[in-house]
Amino acid sequence: MGKTGAENLGEQDHTNLNEEASLLEREAMSADLEKLLSRFPRESSALIPILQAIQAKYGYIDPMAMEKVAQHLGLAVVEVYGVATFYNQFRFHPPGKHQIKVCLGTACHVRGGDIILENFERKLGIKRGETTQDREFSLDSVACVGCCALAPVAVVDEEIKGHMLPSKVEGIVLGFQLQKEKEAREKDKAGKDGNSESSS
Ligand code: FES
Repeated sequence: MGKTGAENLGEQDHTNLNEEASLLEREAMSADLEKLLSRFPRESSALIPILQAIQAKYGYIDPMAMEKVAQHLGLAVVEVYGVATFYNQFRFHPPGKHQIKVCLGTACHVRGGDIILENFERKLGIKRGETTQDREFSLDSVACVGCCALAPVAVVDEEIKGHMLPSKVEGIVLGFQLQKEKEAREKDKAGKDGNSESSS
């Protein structure tokens, strides 16, 4: 028998996400999760509140968390995946340092919000709901953010960017990349200055 969508998604995300979270983070998360789960009854009705609590704490739901939740509630892991992936309130990738959300509400949609999303996807090399490997950017879509007069709209680190255009997508990503390079140069310089002071 073929695998269900949830099974396929579960396996695929498990592989990707295992690479994304560092070993140390995962060890700390494992101990934390035990504590978090101990606050919830071992009943399947606790599944959604548990998933919400995990997302509130970590910003996403790691595959290891899915396994622990399944153990705690006596469910199959695939059942937990199935429920979690059904609701679009849950994320399955760690949040990036910069969070980009493209509005796909009606006003933004008719003014090309989906094209703006595609441009971000292409520029960042990730799909909606994912995070870049360096954890610099995560990309999501949102429903109306209440600024329809500025459609199409993107929210970048909580800042509203209105009248979005493909060229603005380039500018936003480039701006962050330049800022990152500048910080790296300054850090490098501070390190060199520190070394020369200690050796003099
Ligand atoms: S639909 Fe995008 S801000 Fe309202």
